[in-house]
Amino acid sequence: MKLRSLTLRNFRSYAAENFAFHDRVNLIYGENAQGKTNLLEAVHFLLAFRPFRQVKHEELITIGASEARIKGEIESPAGLDEVHIVLGGEKRTIKLNGKLVYNASKALGRYNVVAFLPSDIELVKGSPQTRRRYLDALIFSLEPAHLTELRKYHRFLMQRNAILSKGRNVTPESLEIWDEKLIETGSRVISRRLEYVKKMTPLLARIYADSSGSRSEASLRYAASFAAGDDAEAAYAESLRASFAKDRARGHTTVGPHRDNLSFFIDGRDASVYASQGESKNFALALRASEIDLIKTTLGKTPVLLLDDVTSELDERRRKFLFGMLAGFPGQIFITTTDPEEVLLKGEMKTFRIRKGRAEPALVKR
Ligand SMILES: Nc1ncnc2c1ncn2[C@@H]1O[C@H](COP(=O)(O)OP(=O)(O)O)[C@@H](O)[C@H]1O
Ligand SMILES: [Mg+2]
Repeated sequence: MKLRSLTLRNFRSYAAENFAFHDRVNLIYGENAQGKTNLLEAVHFLLAFRPFRQVKHEELITIGASEARIKGEIESPAGLDEVHIVLGGEKRTIKLNGKLVYNASKALGRYNVVAFLPSDIELVKGSPQTRRRYLDALIFSLEPAHLTELRKYHRFLMQRNAILSKGRNVTPESLEIWDEKLIETGSRVISRRLEYVKKMTPLLARIYADSSGSRSEASLRYAASFAAGDDAEAAYAESLRASFAKDRARGHTTVGPHRDNLSFFIDGRDASVYASQGESKNFALALRASEIDLIKTTLGKTPVLLLDDVTSELDERRRKFLFGMLAGFPGQIFITTTDPEEVLLKGEMKTFRIRKGRAEPALVKR
């Protein structure tokens, strides 16, 4: 799967620009604040139908404009797709080959993309919520049903919490109907998370060891707010029963996938607490590299890679690892940098010099 071309209208710093991409390497360079990251963000939105960082849609619209448009042609094994996204304030419309996509979760996972971002360090050092979101987004890019389930779960959770917030007179019976729904959807959410953590663990361990050349062991662990075991439904039901008094006193639901934690470990130590800046960066790099393998093993597909300004952040060893990996990568790559010399990729590629929201393309051979 390859992104062949892109047209932007009023997307962040781009008033109007067109891009025709190389099917291997696209090197995007320029001074700071010129629009390099904005371009990757547009590519990500087009392929994943969501931004790669948490932003409001209106931030993506050029200041002073009323809507942003991202249009692209994507080559896939099934043929050539045209995707057209319009962002207007809170509204987002997606057209796929001229047809309106009513339910975006249906289109999710159609294309695969892995983004290496400077902010990835937050995955390691940030809050449990950041990691939970990361895991869910990773899963629903592979299995869109996960998103549907997660949304249902949150709806049911709100209903249950609304009853609990009424206070002391709440009885277990009055929660029953929501409990049932929570258990059904919540246990599926948890099972999927456990399944993907299990798939990811050996990939991450191997890549972390390869990239750091050390014996350090990286791992991840899903800590459910109750012991999920083999029968997640039964365990969830039991823990809802057990926490009834507490839930009533607090006025909200205190157990379930919305409280669960994903933790990262290096040599058995919790990375969010103990990892150094350098270790956190390495961990994040290995995590993203593992996603590539996960997509390969789960879907048999090669994702598009986006790398935003990552080279300057890495030490010599990791840079070698990264470019070694990229050299052997069969798919399409978009990489941004302020210094093209730092990008150690050989062969034919397209470069885009970005200045004030305009792009100057060139076909080069290195
Ligand atoms: N909604 C917007 N409207 C207009 N300009 C924007 C908008 N969002 C961001 N920008 C501008 O985009 C520039 C940053 O672009 P960015 O892609 O992050 O630069 P870099 O080349 O350093 O990666 C800044 O000058 C910022 O003001
Ligand atoms: Mg940038």
